[in-house]
Amino acid sequence: MKRLVYITRKEHFNAAHKLFNPAWSKEDNEAVFGRCANENWHGHNFDLYVTIKGNPSEDTGFIMDLKKLRDVINEHVIEQLDHRNINMDVPWMSGKMASIENLAMGIWDQLVPHIHHGQLHCVKLWETHNNYVEYFGETLEE
Ligand code: NI
Repeated sequence: MKRLVYITRKEHFNAAHKLFNPAWSKEDNEAVFGRCANENWHGHNFDLYVTIKGNPSEDTGFIMDLKKLRDVINEHVIEQLDHRNINMDVPWMSGKMASIENLAMGIWDQLVPHIHHGQLHCVKLWETHNNYVEYFGETLEE
C-alpha cells in the first residue's frame, strides 16, 4: 500500500496591483472594489504556500526535494512577481483582473509543468491577514 503525503513550501513576495474593470465607470469600479480600485495602485505582502502530494521515494524519503521546489517557485513565480506591478509587469496576468483568485490560478499554471515528482495539490495565497485563496486545479462542470 502506497501512502499519500502532502508537503508544503512557503515563499513570500511583495507586489502592487489594482482592481479596476476598464469596461465600467470610475464610480462603478469604486462601488465594487472600494480602495482596491485606487488609480495609483496599492501593494500587498503576499505569502504563498505550494503543496505537493505523493508517495515518498524509498531512496530519498522525499515526495519532491524541497530545494528543487523552492527553485521552481522562485524561477517561475517569485522572480516574476516580486516588487512588480501585477497588472502591468507580469505577462501571464495581462488582460486578467488582478484578483488573488486569478493570481492563484496563474501561479498554478506557472508551476504545474515543472512538478515532476509528486503532483501539485494546492496553491494557497495569503493577501492580507484576513484573506487568502486556495486553488486545487479543479474545474466546474459547465
Ligand atoms: Ni489589493
